[in-house]
Amino acid sequence: MLTTLAPFHPRFVHFPIALCLVGALFITLGLIRRRERWVGYGQISLLLGWLGVMAAVITGLIDQSRAPDEVAIRALINQHITAGIALLIAVGLALYWPLRNKRLFSEGRARWGFLALLLVIVALVAVEGWLGGKLVYQFGVGVR
Ligand code: HEM
Repeated sequence: MLTTLAPFHPRFVHFPIALCLVGALFITLGLIRRRERWVGYGQISLLLGWLGVMAAVITGLIDQSRAPDEVAIRALINQHITAGIALLIAVGLALYWPLRNKRLFSEGRARWGFLALLLVIVALVAVEGWLGGKLVYQFGVGVR
């Protein structure tokens, strides 16, 4: 049963990608247009995205054991893991920072710092998806 569901990872990657991007977009627009509610929706989306990234990391680590033991593939998987863990940390920080600093969204400098963190999250999502796509479509990992 479990082997017919494999590979697991591709079933879990789309939600975190979408949720993190939508979260970053809503928070950015909310901060620029000063709409507190949009920031709140964005934070909920980021929280769900973080849980999704966690699920993607776990299923990715399970699936990678079936990947061919070739140097180029292993190097790409290592880059993919690094970006995945960085994404997990960056989203976690974006959830934790507003809890630590209640005035984060109203303070000029801190607000720009937070927006820069959101930009890092978007970049990491893009890099992570690109590396994952390379694994599958260039090297056939999980499909051959
Ligand atoms: C950090 C631990 C991770 C490992 C070890 C890992 C491993 C893999 C592996 C082995 C593949 C090839 C397909 C397969 O065999 O399942 C893959 C594809 C992919 N991964 Fe990851 N991954 C990790 C994290 C993530 C995260 C956090 C995301 C995004 C949120 C992600 C997004 C993708 C995408 C988009 C693909 C291409 C899927 C497709 O086109 O079907 N991965 N990953």
